[in-house]
Amino acid sequence: MARQTPAARHGAFHPLRVAEVDRLTDDSVAVSFAVPPELRGTYRYAPGQHLALRRRSVDGSEIRRTYSICGPAVDPDGPSTLRVGVRMVEGGEFSTFALKELAVGHTVEVMAPAGRFVLEPKPGHFVAVVGGSGITPVLSIASTLLGREPDAHFCLIRSDRTAASTMFVEEVADLKDRYPDRFQLVHVLSREEQQAGLPSGRLDEARLTELLPALLPVTAVDGWFLCGPYGLVQGAERALHALGVPRDRVHQEIFHVDDGASAPSLPVPAPARSAVTATLDGRSGSWPVKDGESLLDAVLRNRADAPYACKGGVCGTCRAFLVSGEVRMDRNFALEQEEVGAGYVLACQSHPVTEEVELDFDR
Ligand code: FES
Repeated sequence: MARQTPAARHGAFHPLRVAEVDRLTDDSVAVSFAVPPELRGTYRYAPGQHLALRRRSVDGSEIRRTYSICGPAVDPDGPSTLRVGVRMVEGGEFSTFALKELAVGHTVEVMAPAGRFVLEPKPGHFVAVVGGSGITPVLSIASTLLGREPDAHFCLIRSDRTAASTMFVEEVADLKDRYPDRFQLVHVLSREEQQAGLPSGRLDEARLTELLPALLPVTAVDGWFLCGPYGLVQGAERALHALGVPRDRVHQEIFHVDDGASAPSLPVPAPARSAVTATLDGRSGSWPVKDGESLLDAVLRNRADAPYACKGGVCGTCRAFLVSGEVRMDRNFALEQEEVGAGYVLACQSHPVTEEVELDFDR
């Protein structure tokens, strides 16, 4: 798991110029940003990480969205371009803007890379199960791994609605051509008959439980990467568990959670008065937490550079280490159990249980 430097964790944005916009499908594009030489270190990323993008809405409010980087992480000095995949979300203001208006020469505010759904290249056999736009970070992971580690093998199991809605077709075909002995692709279409290979249908728990052992030595796989909508990731996780895969070999990133996928945890009596102490970019401060507000919002009232994007417990941008005190989280779709066990929390979902709570965003 990648360790981020404090410099890469803070919530500062920089304006980056759009260098390219490639249409991938009717409803998705890849957007490339030019990184000026002095910011290359700031935007150094691990394969699988994402970027938070920011813009002002027509009503003046701020919109932030995270998009995964799809390009390989190859330059130790940091990238000269950053390429992300954007799929249109119905009613999504940012994705609509990206698909309909964004053009070469525009400027977008971009936060430093974040996220722990990463694989640093190492020998071994790795597998990804992805749905739809879940291919985006996995493309970065697979291309970096295969390009930098000759003793690594990668199997990509991807599920899309139709061939026409499939993102990054050319990039994945390129991996097949370049690494015929080390890259395996299984493509399932849920709403379209396929000419050859697998029958159509959803890649759900039952199907994966049957499919995976026929494809691979499941328990010998060194790392599993699950990415896509909540239902697909949950189904894949249950299938792997049933097949005897140890939990610590499974990594997941959820792109979209329906409201109600998880009810907020049971209310815990909150202290009448509470305060949060937070360290961010090496500077600390202590501030009161208002009744019902999250620790992130309490910090943001005083430190506008606190990192966040979705405020929904999904992207993990607001991850912080709980130095002392106790919190309850409403929901968590971003942190793995090991991270929670190690003391990390999502500040956007955390409410104080004790009168004093201390967070460190730099760890
Ligand atoms: S801001 Fe996305 S999980 Fe907290």
